[in-house]
Amino acid sequence: MNIVDQAGFWQQRYEKNSTGWDMGEVSLPLKAYVDQLPASAKDQAILVAGAGNAYEVGYLHKQGFTNATLVDFAPAPIEAFAERYPSFPTEHLICADFFALSPNDYQFDWVLEQTFFCAINPARRDDYVQQMAKLLKPNGKLVGLLFEKDFGKPHPPFGGNADEYRQRFAPYFDIKVMEPCYNSHPARQGSELFVKMQNKRQH
Ligand SMILES: C[S@@+](CC[C@H](N)C(=O)[O-])C[C@H]1O[C@@H](n2cnc3c(N)ncnc32)[C@H](O)[C@@H]1O
Repeated sequence: MNIVDQAGFWQQRYEKNSTGWDMGEVSLPLKAYVDQLPASAKDQAILVAGAGNAYEVGYLHKQGFTNATLVDFAPAPIEAFAERYPSFPTEHLICADFFALSPNDYQFDWVLEQTFFCAINPARRDDYVQQMAKLLKPNGKLVGLLFEKDFGKPHPPFGGNADEYRQRFAPYFDIKVMEPCYNSHPARQGSELFVKMQNKRQH
């Protein structure tokens, strides 16, 4: 057990406005990814887990994506999101532990990863990989950013590197892209990998 496993830890950070990870805008690499998607993607089921203030979900909504779901176990950012986006369907605002989501209830075409993997207890990284593979449809895609940096601290963000990620993800995902991110936010320049992985699960 690690304090980051507890929703209360994160909720307090939001209540105290101690959210150093929050960029206050949609992640530029993810915006660029979304912008090049075909119109046929607009009704695909998309998950942003550990979404926090969920600028990516807000962006998807504004761009006409109709089937995006936000998951976070801290209620504060979800309530704030609901106020900012009153037209967003409330049934797609899920206040729950990502690890407790049942694949019988949720199946997604793709997932956007943005500073969620680095926030979870490092001992749960393999659980994250397996849970993503279960929540994604066969051939579904996990797209996003992972830190390539060792922060050397006993608290989030917990870093990592491409070798570790390849080892962890390869049993469950075909790693299509894992490369230094060229369009990171200036504060994260040179410390992120852009990844695109396809679920290996067949059914
Ligand atoms: C570092 S923040 C990142 C938030 C957002 N993705 C961003 O980039 O601003 C990590 C988020 O993950 C959420 N979180 C951590 N563990 C979680 C879990 N097991 N289930 C659901 N949400 C979780 C926290 O409440 C927090 O909002």
